Amino acid sequence: MPSLLVMINKFTDNLMLWHKTKNKRVMPWKEEKDPYKIWLSEIILQQTRVEQGWSYYEKFIQKYPTIFYLAKAKDEDVFKLWEGLGYYNRCKNLLFTARLIVKNYNGKFPETYNEIVTLKGVGPYTAAAIASFAYNLPYAVIDGNVFRVLARYFEIETAIDSTEGKKQFTALANKVLNKQNAGKYNQAIMDFGATVCKPLKPLCSHCVLQKNCMAYNNGSVNKLPVKEKTITKKRRWLYYFLFECNSKVLVQKRIAKDIWQNLYELYLLECNEQQYWNTETIQQWLKEQLNINTAVMEHTSSVITQQLTHQQIKAQIIKIKLKKIPTVLQKHQWKKIEELKQLAFPKLLNEYFQNNLF
Ligand code: ADE
Ligand code: SF4
Repeated sequence: MPSLLVMINKFTDNLMLWHKTKNKRVMPWKEEKDPYKIWLSEIILQQTRVEQGWSYYEKFIQKYPTIFYLAKAKDEDVFKLWEGLGYYNRCKNLLFTARLIVKNYNGKFPETYNEIVTLKGVGPYTAAAIASFAYNLPYAVIDGNVFRVLARYFEIETAIDSTEGKKQFTALANKVLNKQNAGKYNQAIMDFGATVCKPLKPLCSHCVLQKNCMAYNNGSVNKLPVKEKTITKKRRWLYYFLFECNSKVLVQKRIAKDIWQNLYELYLLECNEQQYWNTETIQQWLKEQLNINTAVMEHTSSVITQQLTHQQIKAQIIKIKLKKIPTVLQKHQWKKIEELKQLAFPKLLNEYFQNNLF
């Protein structure tokens, strides 16, 4: 068995060679040196797959080609452009940070890791990506993908989500980093984890690391990485009443520190358990809660599921036609159906509108 040092050197060299000769993954932000564009792409990719993030990146770069354009944009316009990507805190932080850099740094993106990592919305992973891609600074990207590749190649059974595991894998990730070519190395390991040493069905038979990969040689690839906890997900039931009156629809803005903050939605009844609605129970609820007697129930959508990181959303839209706006709802915002297109909604509502309203 080769020594650890040899294993490390071979890992890094073969990974770099793979990146140079075989990594065919094209992405619009690759080889980019403008830190603004790199930052933007990394924020988009924080919780979004490359294929989905691609077009958003291009739209943003087109509309806001420099940080100055983004900093002076209207919040609502940026939210609208972000619509569909989810996890809107990213978008809020994007705006905050763009404005901060224009104000405190004259629009010049900070050039050290320690400054970059203090930016809102930028954690250690994103800071390492920006510092290495833009300035070739020797910081290793460290996340679940990197841990998985390392756990397999070095056949490490420590749980990747344990305190000890995080320490061990982080130390190793810094050892295998190619410090002279940190940018290329980081791009290589990201792409390798995403396209070759994938979570399910890794492509071991074509893998350039196969010869020295300990998990491959010992037949333990599918047992690695080990995880301590599997997160139990919370389930939330959202019942949206689409109240329509004289071609206007009731909307409200989500202001609470919760999912979809700052997005618009419909009248909401949130429950911890599933409700089985029918014409009768809906009429009764409207009467009891809102003193509405003359509603016409147009339809109830099927249950729409959306999976977020720590919770599962189950939503149903109940369309109600009203003859006049009831007193209790007069203070709400009522928008023409056409106007809804200007507002940013959660993805599931937007898709419902596309299919049922517009
Ligand atoms: N995930 C996060 N950043 C990435 C990048 N630059 N390339 C591919 N996947 C990524
Ligand atoms: Fe990953 Fe398989 Fe390659 Fe080992 S041989 S690094 S498990 S893809």
